[in-house]
Amino acid sequence: MTKPLKLGVVGCGYWGPNLVRNFRSLPDCNLKMICDLNEARLKHLKSVYPGVQGVTQFHHMLNGADLDALVIATAVDTHYPLAKASLLAGRHTFIEKPMASSSAQCQELVDVARERGLVLMTGHTFLYSPAVRKIKEIVDHGDIGEIRYICARRLNLGLYQKDINVAWDLAPHDISIVQYIMGEAPLSVNCSGSAHVTPGVEDVTMMCLTFSKERSAIIHSSWLDPRKVREMTIVGSKRMIVYDDVAPLEKIRIFDARVERPPHYDTFAEFQYAYHYGDVYSPYIKQEEPLKAECQHFLDCIRRGGAPLTDGHQGLELVRILEASSASLNKGGAPVALGLHKNGDHGRSLLAGSVRRATGPKIPAAKLNGRKPSAPADPPRTAIKIRVTQP
Ligand SMILES: NC(=O)c1ccc[n+]([C@@H]2O[C@H](COP(=O)([O-])OP(=O)(O)OC[C@H]3O[C@@H](n4cnc5c(N)ncnc54)[C@H](O)[C@@H]3O)[C@@H](O)[C@H]2O)c1
Repeated sequence: MTKPLKLGVVGCGYWGPNLVRNFRSLPDCNLKMICDLNEARLKHLKSVYPGVQGVTQFHHMLNGADLDALVIATAVDTHYPLAKASLLAGRHTFIEKPMASSSAQCQELVDVARERGLVLMTGHTFLYSPAVRKIKEIVDHGDIGEIRYICARRLNLGLYQKDINVAWDLAPHDISIVQYIMGEAPLSVNCSGSAHVTPGVEDVTMMCLTFSKERSAIIHSSWLDPRKVREMTIVGSKRMIVYDDVAPLEKIRIFDARVERPPHYDTFAEFQYAYHYGDVYSPYIKQEEPLKAECQHFLDCIRRGGAPLTDGHQGLELVRILEASSASLNKGGAPVALGLHKNGDHGRSLLAGSVRRATGPKIPAAKLNGRKPSAPADPPRTAIKIRVTQP
C-alpha cells in the first residue's frame, strides 16, 4: 500500500465542490485542504467535509502545508498566477479549463512544469466521458466513413462570467471533443458573436473550425437560451452520430443515413441523389462520472510519472484556438490561421490506462511517493457492430 497523495483544491464556487467531492471519493487521495477567498463558501464546504482544513489565503497551501498536488478551480484570470506559484512550490498542478488567459501564460506554465518534472494537467473533462470515448472508437473503426463535418451546440441561460466571453467559457469542451474526434488540430478559425447583456462580453458565439480534407466543425455557444442543450452531430460519409449529453439514456444514436450522388449520368433527367435511410442504433455506454475518471487520471499520472491525456500542451493549444477566435471576433468573423501541429497528439487513444509517456525530464522519485513509474497497459478495443438495412 502506498500513501495517499496529499491534495488541496483552490476555488470552492460553482465547480470546485465537484472536484472536492470526486477527489475525496478516491481511495489513493488524501484531500487535506480547501481554499477560497469567500468565507461563506469555505464555511459551507467545511460543514460538508469537516475533516478538511479550510483556508482563505492561497499561500497557506504552499508554505508548510505539505501537499503533493494542487487543483485550481478559480476564475480564469487567476489560473496563471496561482498555477505558477503552485508549480514553483513543487506541486503537481491541475488547472480547470481554459488553462489560462493567454497562450503566453500557458507556454510559461508548460515550461515551468517541464523544467521541474511536475505533472501539469488541464480540465478538458469531456475527454474522460465514456460517451465521447465511444464516439471516438466508432469513428476510428470506420463505421461512419469519412467525417464530413461536426456541428456542436452548448446552450443554456447563464451562468454569466465576468472575465471571459461565452466562447472561452463553453467552447473549450466542444473544441477538445472535436479535436479528439478529428484526430488533429484545426487549420483556421472564424468566430462571430454578439454581446446582449454585458457590454463587450459576447454571450452568443458561432465558431467555425476548418480542418484538412475540407472538414469543418461549427460550434454554437450561448448563455442566452431557454433550454440546456449539449448536442453534437458528427456527419460521416456512411452514417451519422447524434450525441446528446443531456439525455439520461441513449446519449449516442447512430443514424444509418446518407446522401449519394450517382457516379454516372448522361442526361439531367437521369440525375438524382440517392437518399439512404436505415436503422437507428444506440450503443451501450458505461455509466461513469467523467470528472471522477479525470481526477483518478491526475493521481495516476503523478504516481506513474506519465503525461496526462489532457496535458499542458493540449491546454496551450486550446487557448491558442480561443485567442484566434477572439481575433476573428474583432475582425468581424474573418478567418484566422492557426499554424498548430497538424497531427499533434489528438489521434491518440484516450481510453483508460493508455497514458503517453512524458517527453520532458523524468519526475523525481521523491515526487512519485516512493513508487516506480509503471508502463500502463493498453486497454482491449472492442468493435462496434451496427445493423445495416440495405436501401
Ligand atoms: N470542467 C468543467 O466541466 C467545468 C465546469 C464549470 C466550470 N469550470 C471551470 O472551473 C473554474 C471555476 O469556475 P466556477 O464557475 O466554479 O467559478 P466561480 O466564480 O463560481 O468560483 C470560483 C471561486 O474561486 C474563488 N477564488 C477566486 N480567486 C481566488 C483566490 N485567489 N484564492 C482562493 N479562492 C479564489 C472565488 O471566491 C469563487 O468562490 C473556471 O475555470 C471554469 O471554466 C469547469
